[in-house]
Amino acid sequence: MRIAIGCDHGGFPLKQRVVSVVQAAGHDVVDCGTDSSCAVDYPDFARKVGETILAGHADRGILLCGSGVGICVAANKVPGIRAGVCHDTYSAHQGVEHDDMNVLCLGSRIVGDEVAAELVRAFVNAIFTKEERHVRRLNKVLEIERDALAGKFTG
Ligand code: RB5
Repeated sequence: MRIAIGCDHGGFPLKQRVVSVVQAAGHDVVDCGTDSSCAVDYPDFARKVGETILAGHADRGILLCGSGVGICVAANKVPGIRAGVCHDTYSAHQGVEHDDMNVLCLGSRIVGDEVAAELVRAFVNAIFTKEERHVRRLNKVLEIERDALAGKFTG
């Protein structure tokens, strides 16, 4: 697979380890920045990874920020992106297997390098099961997205 990897300055300390783990697992990395610890805005990198996936230049993404939360919230605003913050290995693979999660979000202030490495391996090795109940639920998620884009949630 091609994995788009993006982070803000909060996630930057974890980035190189994540890149190495993805490559060691036999996947290609699409580097979406940032490239230093200089302060930047996490939505810019969530957007870049999301757009990279939607454009077909990557199959999945990994996003890193301080907590994993901000960059996950931003990524989920990109239609077609299903991002989750996973700091346990069960969620990192089950999110793909049941929910077709296509972006893993990690907080570099929450997990260390080796836990992050295990989370990344769990994510990239997982496959959506396509079991009927999971497809049914995914279709309901996609319906929410379609309705929102069609302006049905006007408050
Ligand atoms: C940056 O200081 C920090 O707010 C950001 O990396 C992230 O944790 C937001 O959720």
